[in-house]
Amino acid sequence: MLIYYFTATGNSLYAAKYLRSAISNVRLESIPKMIREQKFQADDESIGFIFPLHYGGLPMLVEEFARKLELSNARYIFAIATCGIPFLGEPFNELEEILNRKLNASWFLRLVSNYLPSRDTAADWRIRFRYWWADRQLPKIVESISKNESRSTWEFGKNLCRKMHEDWKSRKSELDKNFICDRSRCIRCGMCEKICPVRNVSRPHGFPQWNHNCVECLGCLHICPKQAIDVGEITKNRKRYRHWRIKPEELLR
Ligand SMILES: Cc1cc2nc3c(=O)[nH]c(=O)nc-3n(C[C@H](O)[C@H](O)[C@H](O)COP(=O)(O)O)c2cc1C
Ligand code: SF4
Ligand code: SF4
Repeated sequence: MLIYYFTATGNSLYAAKYLRSAISNVRLESIPKMIREQKFQADDESIGFIFPLHYGGLPMLVEEFARKLELSNARYIFAIATCGIPFLGEPFNELEEILNRKLNASWFLRLVSNYLPSRDTAADWRIRFRYWWADRQLPKIVESISKNESRSTWEFGKNLCRKMHEDWKSRKSELDKNFICDRSRCIRCGMCEKICPVRNVSRPHGFPQWNHNCVECLGCLHICPKQAIDVGEITKNRKRYRHWRIKPEELLR
């Protein structure tokens, strides 16, 4: 089985690693890496996609990858969208349209929202509870996948979410326009540059600058060890997030 994943703050990577440890013969491949290496051919019979929900739909890189992907032998295809609020949006519908075939199974997996511009990261007790809950869902997901079970999931607010999602994508060249770096905090470690899946961060004088090709994964903002990166004033003093069982190095390019 081959599982393609995309992650910025580790939720989706955690789920992907869980599946790899619980199911035999699972390989994980990072979607940004596949795009960089131009690897769009998959011969496996079982294929999975695990990614964060972005504006009620697919992350831009997952969409780009799925459009190019050729699934020659796939018999069982599943997808998991990690998210803060499940069921709102249509990532699976979108993926089916792009792949031009039905998914055999799909799940929303509620974890912790990393979308800091809209609200602060959940309190620690709430994060603990979400992890506990996700760890109760994952064995059920594993069981279904192991038996090649068919399963669909609710997707609410489709029209509204589609509009919101399309509008977000149309603003791509300006998604990073309010990103700022507080140079008095920055230690020029380069982690913001290394985590960026689209090489949108350069550091001409050691400090980050953003080059308007952002897919708004928010990896750079969350990984900065000095909390030097913000989206304007909105994210100031909001708590940065990374899945507690994922190390920073696992998220870097
Ligand atoms: C640009 C952006 C948009 C997001 N939109 C949604 C959303 O519509 N619904 C939701 O529940 N979570 C949303 N989130 C939160 C992520 O889906 C959630 O935190 C996810 O588990 C992060 O996965 P990762 O840690 O693998 O990157 C959004 C996050 C980002 C960065
Ligand atoms: S991750 Fe933070 S501290 Fe490191 S170079 Fe980037 S902005 Fe500076
Ligand atoms: S610049 Fe930051 S938010 Fe934008 S794609 Fe790169 S890591 Fe993600």
